[in-house]
Amino acid sequence: MEFNIKSGSPEKQRVACVIVGVYESRKLTFAADLLDRISNGFISDVIRRGDMEGKLGSTLLLHSVPHTLCDRVMLVGLGKERDFRAKEYREAVRSSIRSLTQTSATEAVSYLTELTVKKHDVEWMIEQATVVTLDVLYRFDRFKSKQDESVREPRKLTLAVPRRSDLADGEKGLQRGLAIGNGMKLAKDLGNLPPNVCTPTYLAAEAERIAADFGCGVEIYGQTQLEELGLASFLSVARGSVQEPKLIVLQYQGAKDKNDRPLTLVGKGITFDSGGISLKPGEGMDEMKYDMCGAASVLGAFRAAVEMKLPINLVAIVPACENMPAGNAVKPGDIITSLSGQTIEVLNTDAEGRLILCDALTFAERFNPDTVIDVATLTGACVIALGHVATGLYSNQDSLARELLAAGEEVADRAWHMPLWDEYQELLKSPFADMANIGGRPGGSITAACFLSRFAKAYDWAHLDIAGTAWKSGKDKGATGRPVPLLVQFLQDRADIALGNVVRRGRPRRESPEIVEDDAD
Ligand code: BES
Ligand code: MN
Ligand code: ZN
Repeated sequence: MEFNIKSGSPEKQRVACVIVGVYESRKLTFAADLLDRISNGFISDVIRRGDMEGKLGSTLLLHSVPHTLCDRVMLVGLGKERDFRAKEYREAVRSSIRSLTQTSATEAVSYLTELTVKKHDVEWMIEQATVVTLDVLYRFDRFKSKQDESVREPRKLTLAVPRRSDLADGEKGLQRGLAIGNGMKLAKDLGNLPPNVCTPTYLAAEAERIAADFGCGVEIYGQTQLEELGLASFLSVARGSVQEPKLIVLQYQGAKDKNDRPLTLVGKGITFDSGGISLKPGEGMDEMKYDMCGAASVLGAFRAAVEMKLPINLVAIVPACENMPAGNAVKPGDIITSLSGQTIEVLNTDAEGRLILCDALTFAERFNPDTVIDVATLTGACVIALGHVATGLYSNQDSLARELLAAGEEVADRAWHMPLWDEYQELLKSPFADMANIGGRPGGSITAACFLSRFAKAYDWAHLDIAGTAWKSGKDKGATGRPVPLLVQFLQDRADIALGNVVRRGRPRRESPEIVEDDAD
């Protein structure tokens, strides 16, 4: 679909559909009011009759509104005016686009982007509308012989900005939104692809495609090179599979100083997790094709950052392999020596994510990174702790944790800070090796993070456990594209800091104790 930014009156739009908002108090937004006046109260009549109460998420399609140039007017409920915040704004945009796909309108102009949302600017309004729209319109139907024709993708969406002087900011927001949307689409596609297609080799080819498209560096290490380099922990997981493991490295140098220490993203790329010899139960095992969603989101965020030409140096590292049972597979009781030299007693071959990530984290040291963030569908325990709402966030640096929390908050891709206390480290003791690869059921997400922390001592590090947030099960089964928005916002914030800009943030940072923010979004 094509996006456009424009400023202009709603009654003058010669288009299939004009989208305007109404509040629950029956109060019309500025754009809805203009249409109401020109149509001699047509819209307020409809509202008085009670067919549109302005409830958040509701929509009503009106045809042939007098004296307007458009074919349809879509009224979108915004809820209570005083409660209209970021979350409500996204919800209103989401329902407007969903309704639009139920009509045969191929072009629309939305005035929802002209609304004001507390503490957010025009750029953010347009960015978020773009991201939400692309999210709603996303389909994964390349393996269906017939496309679903009940939902139509509009051809063109124009997003309105209040003034001509807002056009440049709107355009910036659109470019950002498109980059984030493209990154999320990449992450969703890779996640949704079946595991017989999306193999480690496929992920490597995808990385090479990104590198070729945007002109950045890429390196792929296969079995032999990984043996030479000594990533024995990673290789122990891959051993039971006929698919060759790949370590994928993408590099982008966007900072003014090419020698600036890079930000580094590491993504878990288990393209299928059967559990290995500690085989998983059969039910729902297909969903373990999503066990490479960390890798997918790292590639997606990398793509977005490069498309946005962020002035940062960025490295993406993806260890990719399958976890399969086999005669030569790693077994419970095996002791392996990781790249760091630390030895690991494998008590459960299903705790494989940490075994591939620990070597990737040690490998990351060769880039002398400023900060390393790993992203992984690491533990079922994280789903029990936080459900499908928040990503689990761990860090060896509280200020980094705060940056990531704020970034997630800004773009509705939230994380929650979890502890990494020494008491939990105790649970990883092994009688025979430096550590075991599991710490028991209690605090399972925390002990997994503790395991990783032992390999991340050389830099500021954070770990995002996305087991609950990377995909949805049930009738809407599919990858979510999370945490691409959080990661991109974090990278953008770091770029702003490097440029000496104020971090663009809905919620201002507390610089002095006098500033107290109490009205939560
Ligand atoms: N990929 C899984 C984690 C997972 C499970 C994510 C279910 C989302 C839904 C991971 O490799 C795994 O199997 N973890 C084990 C660890 C355990 C053996 C200590 C788990 O969470 O059960
Ligand atoms: Mn597993
Ligand atoms: Zn796994």
